[in-house]
Amino acid sequence: MRELIDKISEVKNLKELEELRVSVLGKKGELAKGFANMKNLAPEQRKDVAKELNEVKQSFTAKLEERKETLQKEALEREMLSEKIDISLLSTSSEAGGYHPVVETMNRIIEYFQKLNFSVEEGRMVEDDFHNFEALNLPKHHPARDMQDTFYFKDGSLLRTHTSPVQIRTMQRDKPPIRMIAPGTVFRRDFDLTHTPMFHQVEGLVVEEAGKVSFANLKFILEDFLKHMFGEVDVRFRPSFFPFTEPSAEVDISCVFCEGDGCRVCSHTGWLEVLGCGMVDPNVFDAVGYKDVSGYAFGLGVERFAMLIHQVPDLRSMFEGDLRLLEQFRA
Ligand code: PHE
Repeated sequence: MRELIDKISEVKNLKELEELRVSVLGKKGELAKGFANMKNLAPEQRKDVAKELNEVKQSFTAKLEERKETLQKEALEREMLSEKIDISLLSTSSEAGGYHPVVETMNRIIEYFQKLNFSVEEGRMVEDDFHNFEALNLPKHHPARDMQDTFYFKDGSLLRTHTSPVQIRTMQRDKPPIRMIAPGTVFRRDFDLTHTPMFHQVEGLVVEEAGKVSFANLKFILEDFLKHMFGEVDVRFRPSFFPFTEPSAEVDISCVFCEGDGCRVCSHTGWLEVLGCGMVDPNVFDAVGYKDVSGYAFGLGVERFAMLIHQVPDLRSMFEGDLRLLEQFRA
């Protein structure tokens, strides 16, 4: 019987151990047989045998438990070792991404104006008629309000068609002087080679005490800005019209594709239009209750800037997320 106990240390795994347990302690096991045999023994022998059988049973069970614990521990260790991940191993290099050209261009624009101490304002994308049109001196019958150009909601609110309403919100919130830009998303019902229903603008607004800013200041800062963005280009101001500025101008740079010689992109004029600007119309100041101030404002399309900087021919490709295009803009 004692050798049963020795067998325990020979067992190599939990399965074998269980088999051994059943063969010893089971209903038809060695011990059960031992007890059953007792009836064949002389009564005076029985006591000693029973004692021995019980002792064997006890130490067998104890040893069994001990062995079971050791085997379980070993099994767990084996499992953990086999599942171990070597985190010290160098991974194969993953490729770094880059900014989308629109974001990159937007960031460059913001950076330029932040250095000149312009604050960055956000406004809101869902606007009301007052901020998007009325306060900007866009009269009720102005074609820009047409359903053709503007996305309206049932309640009369709308998706802002330009970043100019941020001018109004900032002036309503703050007292002059103001020196702000408003980068943001705008929406128009338009879709062709050069228009998408969603695009991005950066607005600029400077307001000072009356007489402290002039068109000369506007011209100086925009010329410097455009050279910062496009390199050595010629800049020209053309008289134009916006309801919220007077006088107004559109700003052209010499064509970055043909350097002014004339090509398909600049319609053989040698010039590319990149900005709208002007001195803030007094009616706009009236709408926000500003008195005795003067100021200038400008607005530009970020996609157009990005396209001209990177020579991308189709505006729509800016929004297709095609990796063959985007991968060319990795930092
Ligand atoms: N809001 C004008 C547009 O969307 C741009 C602009 C802004 C023009 C400020 C002049 C002054 O076309």
